[in-house]
Amino acid sequence: MEFRNDAPRYDAVARALHWTVAALVLLQIAGGLVLEELPRRTALRSFAFDAHESVGVLVIALLALRIAWRATHAAPVDRLAGWHAVAARAAHVALYVLMVAVPLAGYAMVDAKGYDVAVFGFAGPDLLATDEALAKRLAALHERLAWALVALVAVHVAAAAWHRIVLRDDVLARMLPPRGHAA
Ligand code: HEM
Repeated sequence: MEFRNDAPRYDAVARALHWTVAALVLLQIAGGLVLEELPRRTALRSFAFDAHESVGVLVIALLALRIAWRATHAAPVDRLAGWHAVAARAAHVALYVLMVAVPLAGYAMVDAKGYDVAVFGFAGPDLLATDEALAKRLAALHERLAWALVALVAVHVAAAAWHRIVLRDDVLARMLPPRGHAA
């Protein structure tokens, strides 16, 4: 069931989840770019890999929550029309698909390599048999999907900036907290 939502902005839970997941995804992208460059067999490298895997699993969990919340709590009434509305909707759906697919491919890659997936000091469930060839394909998939996500995030942020700076409409405000009566 979806609740009516005539408010001018996303509700507090949707906003909190958007910005928390956005920060974690940006952290994961930055981390993913440096991981392979870190010196081998050092404590720093193993910490960085463990952190990247743990945060990846956290992102999957938060996304499950976010998608469940979104499915039961409507977004604010859409004031965009025509191709703008279609493009925004398509971009948001694609962002959700990639945000889920990238960490899932990463998890499967580590699992297929035969390693335990680090989850904040614990081992994640072992779901796949060790398979080097599969692990290689999953590594390529994880990387390609991550680059697609980077490109889409860049478009998404540019669109938000365009709405705020050029069109001067309320699209960005929909994802920000209310500013009080004086605003
Ligand atoms: C500076 C960074 C960001 C800004 C300024 C921003 C801004 C926004 C705004 C204004 C909306 C609401 C659009 C509308 O009302 O139609 C939105 C929605 C959304 N954003 Fe972002 N965003 C940022 C980063 C990210 C990142 C990194 C991701 C994911 C990787 C992301 C994923 C999404 C998704 C999936 C929605 C759709 C929400 C829904 O209706 O379910 N955003 N963002």
